[in-house]
Amino acid sequence: MANFPDILIDSFNQAGQGQVFQFFDELDETMQAELVAQAETIDLVEVKELVEEHVKGSQHYSLNLDGLEPAPYQALATKGGDSAQWDAAWEAGSAALRAGRVAAFTVAGGQGTRLGYDGPKGTYPVTPVTEKTLFQVFAEKIARSGERFDVTIPWYILTSEINDDATVAAFEAADFFGLSRESVHFIVQGLVPAVDYEGKILLAEKGKIAMTPDGHGGSLRALVRSGAVDTMKAQGIDIVCYFQVDNPIVQCIDPAFIGFHVLGQSELSSKMVPKAYALEKVGHFCIQNGKSLVVEYSDMPNEMQEETKVDGGIRFNGGSVAIHIFDRDFIARAGGSGEGSKLPFHRADKKIPHVNAAGKIIQPDSPNGVKFEMFVFDALPLAKNPVIIEAARADDFSPVKNAEGVDSPQSSKEDQLRMFARWFKAAGESIETDGSGLPAIKFEISPRFAVDEADFVSQWATLDPKTEIKDGAVIQ
Ligand code: UTP
Repeated sequence: MANFPDILIDSFNQAGQGQVFQFFDELDETMQAELVAQAETIDLVEVKELVEEHVKGSQHYSLNLDGLEPAPYQALATKGGDSAQWDAAWEAGSAALRAGRVAAFTVAGGQGTRLGYDGPKGTYPVTPVTEKTLFQVFAEKIARSGERFDVTIPWYILTSEINDDATVAAFEAADFFGLSRESVHFIVQGLVPAVDYEGKILLAEKGKIAMTPDGHGGSLRALVRSGAVDTMKAQGIDIVCYFQVDNPIVQCIDPAFIGFHVLGQSELSSKMVPKAYALEKVGHFCIQNGKSLVVEYSDMPNEMQEETKVDGGIRFNGGSVAIHIFDRDFIARAGGSGEGSKLPFHRADKKIPHVNAAGKIIQPDSPNGVKFEMFVFDALPLAKNPVIIEAARADDFSPVKNAEGVDSPQSSKEDQLRMFARWFKAAGESIETDGSGLPAIKFEISPRFAVDEADFVSQWATLDPKTEIKDGAVIQ
């Protein structure tokens, strides 16, 4: 009878993927075991479907634009929205928080290649004075929100096999940033193999398959497969606040947003920000045949992106900033394997270092293969009663994506400084700022002290003695 690796190797041969084990006999026992363990995680049926649809399929994806309209949204009270509704949402969100129904969920499984930082992105220092890391900023926000609503807010963090050990080690080293260990849950997302243009799975080394995380959309199935959804159920959690690891100013736990989600009986709620300019490279919140969806800038023709309304404003104005709230049962459905609920994969052409048939490592200078990723916003058309609310970009979105320029550590630090100065002024204090709102001095408001403007104003009012605001000051 054939033993286990032989059966596995045979299934790869039969799927036309025998090259994965081409160098098997050259490997020592440990390396063989590692390759077998890696190969075991691969769903060959899924790979075949992906290759047929995205690599061999002659049809290039193009979105049907018929009947595409901008999605309606709840405008900010300061932008013509109904302030009574915002107040009611705040109350409803606070009640849900106090009742212990809310968890935070950070997706941190990405590779962060654009930033070029060697380590999990959450361990990257981001604040302007004390250089707190992204993870520390979120941990402090979650702790402060819990204190504000007298509850422990569980925090789920998506990692991938590539950064899980280093992420957990960073939390251990920082003693979980003051959070209780039991309240922090790490979830490891799945990996999918990269393939060449013939659909053959690539080897990164003779004993290692080239695999990449299955995208932020993979977070939903990771929450299901890991049992986290069941844990949430046992904890009484049904409201899951989703945000990305790269955005230090995100309001991780936003009571008004939670309230709109609850009052709207929404399965998936989203924040939109008005686009900065017509051709800004963001996804657009749209509606088509009664379903909400996000249309990537690359799928929407420029003329459409530039269309204006009678008042001159941009028609497709709703930019997606990857801030959502999920209903727990919806995660179970969209992340499950039931027909019609799985998120689609998208193809990305990449330069993928690999071992060629002669056993030589090749570093390509042009794309040589395909990686597959799911996008979380593809869950939107599957959701009942989706709610979209407007957010002020300055209060919610300034990501660290690139090493320099737009969406960089520098731009994000400046946005944090502008935000701190605005909060300080809102509390009735004065501080010198330039035309863009950037203060002349560097100072910091600790997220442990306040998580949003209203929180800061009330916390500052009771602070005694008040922190002297000078260069390098930290309000904490
Ligand atoms: P990005 O699309 O910015 O990708 O992810 P990235 O991998 O972080 O960075 P680049 O493109 O290589 O420079 C947006 C968010 O989704 C998470 C990231 O960690 C980030 O919080 N993400 C992305 C995952 O959790 N898993 C993935 O497979 C991809």
